[in-house]
Amino acid sequence: MKKLHIKTYGCQMNVYDSARMADVLAPLGYAPVDAPEGADLVILNTCHIREKAAEKVFSELGRLRPLKDANGTMLAVAGCVAQAEGEAILARAPYVDVVLGPQAYHRLPELVARAARGGGAALDTDFPVESKFDHLPVPGAGQGVSAFLTIQEGCDKFCTFCVVPYTRGAEFSRPPADIERDARALVAGGAAEITLLGQNVNAYHGRDAGGAELGLGALVRRLAKIDGLARIRYTTSHPRDMDDDMIAAHADTPALMPFVHLPVQSGANRVLEAMNRGHTAARYLDIVARLRAARPDLALSSDFIVGFPGETDAEFEATLDLIRAVGFAQAFSFKYSPRPGTPASLLDRQVPEAVKDARLQRLQALLKAQQDDFNARAVGAVVPVLYERAGRNPGQMVGKTPWLQAVHAALPETAAGKVLPTRILAAGANSLAGAIPDSNPERLSA
Ligand code: SAH
Ligand code: SF4
Ligand code: F3S
Repeated sequence: MKKLHIKTYGCQMNVYDSARMADVLAPLGYAPVDAPEGADLVILNTCHIREKAAEKVFSELGRLRPLKDANGTMLAVAGCVAQAEGEAILARAPYVDVVLGPQAYHRLPELVARAARGGGAALDTDFPVESKFDHLPVPGAGQGVSAFLTIQEGCDKFCTFCVVPYTRGAEFSRPPADIERDARALVAGGAAEITLLGQNVNAYHGRDAGGAELGLGALVRRLAKIDGLARIRYTTSHPRDMDDDMIAAHADTPALMPFVHLPVQSGANRVLEAMNRGHTAARYLDIVARLRAARPDLALSSDFIVGFPGETDAEFEATLDLIRAVGFAQAFSFKYSPRPGTPASLLDRQVPEAVKDARLQRLQALLKAQQDDFNARAVGAVVPVLYERAGRNPGQMVGKTPWLQAVHAALPETAAGKVLPTRILAAGANSLAGAIPDSNPERLSA
């Protein structure tokens, strides 16, 4: 038995990809371990989205080098930094054995075998003609109660700040039949919730051999028929692709959770245009209104960038106005980070770091207040919670509300995979405290 350690950075698609890499290496005798010490193979699954994320790779490689020198641990770099900077990695860290981009994961066994034979570092950052999805094993058991499933990958939007179209390649949608097969396998393996993943997941347009093209709304309705699949989520959406059918799916498909991650980045039209986002602030607010009309309890989260080149005080204020107009349950916010090869990195009027810092602080304070308020409003209500795993304290389970809030409650481990009505008792900084109401028989076994 050989030991495999994978360290994952970046987005949920990387989490999914890491699990697939473990799957594809299992037949070669690799079993996952939690720490790099003592591992035969360490894979860093990297993220290139901001400078900080990308720099982590080189410091981590520096820390891993002694393991290689002492035990011969094989080192591999996968993910978006590998795709964008493969050659640079081999130049800066020549002791790395394998460098492979996100579209080459099905070739991992071959690359590892080649490196093991001592043929020098193996580099694979091509965008192959064949799809890795046709060559990766179907996901098995052990993906947890809440599992990820990639249905779409790549991006053709070319927002001027973003590296993803260069690291993940052109947009590609998997055939619905393959997705349904994988979803059924995940449910058979214990999943009760599936989050459909894509860089632009609502741009999904898959087709089976001889079949008609399906959008995301139709795909969700098809998956909702799978017995035992209690909850469906999807991320990340682009406002431009939020079509009427997807909005309607929120009204007619109970398994589709009332929570949408819909990045907007900015509330100022000039900035949105300079970002090449393809919509205005008013258009975004209109989509939000239509989603809420379809599903009144729908909650939203978003991504924001402060300090995009040329962003003025007034434009930043417009972003705060949009946040106040929507009211978000959650959000991620970032200082603009110039990325090599992207158009925005070449723009004049880069915003000084101190201004970005001040704007980020104000933005995050507003978003935090909205999130606290959203969580506080849950207190006293009875909400369906899908329990996923044991909590930090003994006798405790943690799960999620439909609105992606973490809940902990006193329950036996047999509650894993069940959706139980739960009374919310209190809202803490990171999670809600819940209890199963007296009338629920589940309480008796707790
Ligand atoms: N596909 C998604 C987002 C992918 S990246 C979408 O279209 O919205 C996740 C988030 O990282 C983005 O939404 C954006 O807010 C942030 N991000 C991307 N590039 C960035 C950069 N150069 N600097 C700062 N934040 C960035
Ligand atoms: Fe990046 Fe824009 Fe594509 Fe999202 S839509 S992945 S932000 S280029
Ligand atoms: Fe990062 Fe690549 Fe995901 S750049 S955010 S790991 S698509």
